[in-house]
Amino acid sequence: MFEILEIGRLGPGVNRAVISAPDIARAHRPGQFIILRAHENGERIPLTVADKDVDKGTITLVWQEVGTTTYYLGTMCPGDRLQDLCGPLGKPTHLEKFGTVVGIGGGIGVAPLHPITKGMYDAGNHVISIVGARTEGLLIMTDDMKKISHELLISTDDGSFGIHGFVTQVLQSIIDRGTKIDLCVAIGPVPMMRAVVNVSRAANIPTVVSLNPIMVDGTGMCGACRVEVAGKTMFGCVDGPEFNGFDVDFDLLMKRLAMYKGPELISLNKFRDTERGCKCTIPGGA
Ligand code: FES
Repeated sequence: MFEILEIGRLGPGVNRAVISAPDIARAHRPGQFIILRAHENGERIPLTVADKDVDKGTITLVWQEVGTTTYYLGTMCPGDRLQDLCGPLGKPTHLEKFGTVVGIGGGIGVAPLHPITKGMYDAGNHVISIVGARTEGLLIMTDDMKKISHELLISTDDGSFGIHGFVTQVLQSIIDRGTKIDLCVAIGPVPMMRAVVNVSRAANIPTVVSLNPIMVDGTGMCGACRVEVAGKTMFGCVDGPEFNGFDVDFDLLMKRLAMYKGPELISLNKFRDTERGCKCTIPGGA
């Protein structure tokens, strides 16, 4: 169980792995996530499921190397096994035929956006996807997104690929050309989601965001994932991860995400000092 069947780089510091997890593949719905421990003494980290293959009994995880565990995962090889994999967790995305749905993914946020967009596409919506990154090398899953979008718009902050600008500017251009948008789904860095909400709120477009608070158990017991939505305390793991973007206190979310930056850096430096590089050559290594 939980054997890594494939692992490789999608871009600098961004990895993708296909994991054997038949029960999770069968039960998973768009919007849900898993919590894993890479090894016996490892911390628990949440990752969203970017794709799955029920027939093969696999799920695909995509992650960015930002802390000890995500760096450690990048050193694992095909044939290695994850210690634990718990899921699917969280509420599934509400899928129905809304009309025109714009999915907006920034950076690594494209990974969780992918199954949601696929669900919206399969539900009969006209899907417009906006995929953005700081620079061309950080764009991920554009081919995957193209397959499940009626229109795909790609932007980079530095103009190295696609439209030169932020995803919010691309969204504004869709609004300005007169396209009636019935729903926006935005996933990415917190400042990006907040900026998208500012644009969509001005145009009165309902907007769903998927939040990434710090999590421990993922089942509503520890309270680590507290977020404030419409003035109420909610748990990202069981009440979310998706919320009405108009109601989210993004400032508080950013503060809570920064709470453990110091200890995280100490842990990462210790890991880098002891780790003697990758255990294997990652195919297509960037
Ligand atoms: S992660 Fe513990 S309550 Fe949500």
